[in-house]
Amino acid sequence: MSLLVLPADDPAAIAEAAGILRKGGLVAFPTETVYGLGANALDAEAVARIFAAKARPTFDPLIVHLADRSWLPRAVRETPEAAAVLAGRFWPGPLTLVLPKTSAVPDLVTAGLDTVGVRVPDHPAARALLEVADRPIAAPSANLFGCVSPTTAAHVVEQLGDRVDAVLDGGPCRVGVESTIVSFAAGSPVVLRPGGVAREELEQALGRAVGLVRERAPHDTALVAPGQLERHYATRTPLRLLSGRAETPGRGSRVGLLAFAEGPAQGFAAVEVLAPDGQPATAAANLFAALRRLDARGLDLLLAEPCSEEGLGSAIMDRLRRCAAGAV
Ligand code: TXA
Ligand code: MG
Repeated sequence: MSLLVLPADDPAAIAEAAGILRKGGLVAFPTETVYGLGANALDAEAVARIFAAKARPTFDPLIVHLADRSWLPRAVRETPEAAAVLAGRFWPGPLTLVLPKTSAVPDLVTAGLDTVGVRVPDHPAARALLEVADRPIAAPSANLFGCVSPTTAAHVVEQLGDRVDAVLDGGPCRVGVESTIVSFAAGSPVVLRPGGVAREELEQALGRAVGLVRERAPHDTALVAPGQLERHYATRTPLRLLSGRAETPGRGSRVGLLAFAEGPAQGFAAVEVLAPDGQPATAAANLFAALRRLDARGLDLLLAEPCSEEGLGSAIMDRLRRCAAGAV
């Protein structure tokens, strides 16, 4: 496949990318969270190409992107009142709602579930692409299955360059971690994956507590996000999540440090500071690119410092735990 890297702010590029999608091709595009690997969500053959390109198992359902709330009936059978409240408050934005699907959505998109994850992305290129293609777009993060998500077009090209028809380059993603996934499958809202919208914000909007599904119960498939495997976001270099500030590593070992804030870090072969300003939003925006840079150094071990689990910190710690689980 010959790869087209197109500027995401150019209407002619959007028109070309939309044409590729309408013909059943694959287009990687920027969103405010991470880059997505998109195909026409209502075309099962096109969606199958996503799974092939990512080497993604078909038990892992995809998120369907919509241009705005008025598109909900294209994918969703019914929207509970609380879901409508969240959509009204957080769309466009980093929130995915899991709702009953219509028959128009192929089973492959939802891994056979009767529900579909939908969101309206808050990125001008993503929304322009949706409008011009005039199709809901199924898009997982544009990385190989199990690897760190891409927050720049270069990350996409590195892993999937020969497997997509076009990449829209919109620069680095603003939020940097994926959307928060809220399921209504069991009636009341439950967070399946912490992400760009903090659980505290959801609770504030709904005026009630919202639960978080932490780990997958082995036999309970009703509530949980099927793709939320423990081993995910893996670096090639083993990563260990610390319980406090890192100590100086022993002499001779080649250890990298993923620090949350500035501070003394002697003896490390490489150091990445996620939030020089101490803000969780800055840490989230830097997280995946910093992990990739550390991983590229070919070190023996990466140590990650923890951050507070409040607000966006919950999404950051979730990704670091999963990354550490891959490094046994
Ligand atoms: O920010 C994001 O959400 C990014 C951008 C591209 O929009 N997308 C993303 O997609 O993170 P992906 O494929 O990496 O994560 C999709 C996850 C699945 O692994 C699964 O956990 C959950 O969404 N999911 C999707 N549909 C679901 C459903 N019907 N029921 C439960 N979980 C679902
Ligand atoms: Mg992903």
